[in-house]
Amino acid sequence: MSREKTARFYAVVAGASGVVGRRLATHLAALPDWEVTGLSRRAPANVAFKTLAVDLTNAADCQAILGTLTDTTHIFYAARYDHKTTAPEPIDLNTNMLRHLVDAVEPRAANLQHIHMVQGSKYYGSNLPSYKTPALESDPRVANNANFYYAQEDFLVARQQSSGQRWSWSASRPHAICDFSTGFARALGLLIAVYASICKARGEPLSFPGTVGNYNALYQCTEAKLLARAIQWMSTEPTCANQAFNITNGDFIRWKNLWPLFADYFGLPLGGVNTQRLGDTTTTPQAAQTWAQIVKKYHLKTNSYVTYDKLVVWPYGDFVFGPAIDIMSSTIKARQLGFRDAMDTGRMFIDLFDYYRREKVIP
Ligand SMILES: NC(=O)c1ccc[n+]([C@@H]2O[C@H](COP(=O)([O-])OP(=O)(O)OC[C@H]3O[C@@H](n4cnc5c(N)ncnc54)[C@H](OP(=O)(O)O)[C@@H]3O)[C@@H](O)[C@H]2O)c1
Repeated sequence: MSREKTARFYAVVAGASGVVGRRLATHLAALPDWEVTGLSRRAPANVAFKTLAVDLTNAADCQAILGTLTDTTHIFYAARYDHKTTAPEPIDLNTNMLRHLVDAVEPRAANLQHIHMVQGSKYYGSNLPSYKTPALESDPRVANNANFYYAQEDFLVARQQSSGQRWSWSASRPHAICDFSTGFARALGLLIAVYASICKARGEPLSFPGTVGNYNALYQCTEAKLLARAIQWMSTEPTCANQAFNITNGDFIRWKNLWPLFADYFGLPLGGVNTQRLGDTTTTPQAAQTWAQIVKKYHLKTNSYVTYDKLVVWPYGDFVFGPAIDIMSSTIKARQLGFRDAMDTGRMFIDLFDYYRREKVIP
């Protein structure tokens, strides 16, 4: 690693082209005492940190490419194998990706202090038909909850033991990450904004596309910069060692409270609940044509990212707006140990819409 800055910390961020990893790597690289190397197969565009292309599923590739990262003090794991919203994420593949990274870097990094892994509230079963809320970090694991977080955590804890505990670990558990950036199609703020723009172009009110139960239920989000600050905090604060922390904006929302604000923002009358599968209704040729007309009328961006098929992952909307259960994580533990950042989630969405407007992605 280069020593151009007076760095105290040398970070390796896996998943540096993803929502979490890119924001985290950008955040750390802007600090005076962090030097960052971001890992992914495809180099992220326009970033202010060093990048290395590596396929984490390939152990030999990892050994060959990552063996040079001997200065590493912190490993941040925010990679996740390609996944469809509608299919379970592979456990073995995701766990092996973390294993290959640790196998390549950890034995050679004499000053390694910490390994952080990004998890999520699926850890508690938020993706199941029901789960205990508010979720606490001390809650027992959930039986039949097939996700890769448990396997990754088991691997990391065992590795820390076998390495003589010369480094500590931590885990963050965010939910529905929202980032002020373009280029990510799994983006809730953008999904709502594009949906609203299509409703407007069709002369329809802003109906809620999910279920009645979901409209009334509690929900939570995590803004990506807030998450990046939280990850930095828990990875450098000794009292956080070897623990997990729920990280959300700190408030709870109900879509039924926010939808009127959104209708107002987009200048639409408020509709009722109009349950539909966005993965079907918004992917029709008619919807694409409506979007093409909107792009033309409002002179929106027309690069490859904003083509209608790449703009929004619509099944993600069904994943968010379908379940009729409260999604709630307690953030008391992080607050009590010193991380007190919070954000008004309703305000965050309005700011996101403003951001997408400024970027000429929505009208
Ligand atoms: N997004 C959310 O709303 C959310 C909510 C809660 C929890 N989380 C958790 O946060 C973590 C990060 O998720 P994310 O949403 O930021 O992911 P993401 O946007 O899908 O990004 C995934 C990253 O992993 C990299 N990657 C995938 N396969 C790879 C491979 N074989 N080798 C090297 N890099 C590879 C990707 O880069 P390339 O494709 O270029 O290789 C990309 O940088 C995950 O554990 C996820 O479960 C996310």
